[in-house]
Amino acid sequence: MIYKFLFLISIILNLFLVFLLNKKKIKEFLNRSKIEEIEVAKIHSSFELRNVSSNLRSPKEDSIIRSFSISPDNNIVGMTSDYEAWIISTLSKVSKNIFEFGTCSGKTTYLMALNSSENSKITTITLNPNEINNIKKFDKDNESSYRNIKNESIYDKFLFSGTPEEKKIKVIFINSLDFNNTEFKEKMDFIFIDGGHTYSVVKNDSEKSFEMLKSNGIILWHDYVPGKRSSSDVVKYINSILDKKKIYKIKNTSLCLYKNY
Ligand SMILES: C[S@@+](CC[C@H](N)C(=O)[O-])C[C@H]1O[C@@H](n2cnc3c(N)ncnc32)[C@H](O)[C@@H]1O
Repeated sequence: MIYKFLFLISIILNLFLVFLLNKKKIKEFLNRSKIEEIEVAKIHSSFELRNVSSNLRSPKEDSIIRSFSISPDNNIVGMTSDYEAWIISTLSKVSKNIFEFGTCSGKTTYLMALNSSENSKITTITLNPNEINNIKKFDKDNESSYRNIKNESIYDKFLFSGTPEEKKIKVIFINSLDFNNTEFKEKMDFIFIDGGHTYSVVKNDSEKSFEMLKSNGIILWHDYVPGKRSSSDVVKYINSILDKKKIYKIKNTSLCLYKNY
């Protein structure tokens, strides 16, 4: 009897150990979604590569960008990866009217301004650091995404402040839930959704973006990471509209894409 009991305990312990060792993979499996992945070269011709030799392909002039790096020592919160930043910069080169939900340090805004044409306009909205205590948490909102909104709403000057590119940029300090998008409807070539990551805010920003997009315009969402707690509302919202809108996840990124064909 005692052997049977010990055998059972050892099976349970082993299962627990397997769970601990594969926690990340198990979480990813449970949170997998039916979203289709797309190669970056398929989203715009600018990303296509040219053959240099039989084993080497190089970016075309269309995707050579102006960029910069921020050292981790600078402790800037809420940033995109270099690869994601390159995708945003390249799309900015072919976009005249650009809109961004979520300015934060202004890293992505600055990249958009550095890479878009001289007559481009970039509008970016962000929360006023003095008003973050008025931000409401709604029932469906994930607690950790709600906390992040406060941690990321700390800037009132930006990486582009005082640069020549600043003239292309209009910063609006407003809660996107109160933002009236009437004057922007069907005007935008490129929209980047990287504001609050709570369900209520992602839903609001996405619905407003669909109305603001021009024909052939592109929306990108940041932070589609199944299994990551602070991204769970982004994943939940995007998954909930996949049957109505053709949205792709861009391979090797946390970016999702919608194109208004
Ligand atoms: C992840 S950061 C943006 C990072 C930035 N796009 C970058 O990559 O450099 C999130 C930003 O969204 C803003 N934000 C969060 N909730 C918002 C809301 N309800 N309305 C407007 N802005 C919001 C925050 O103030 C913060 O500036």
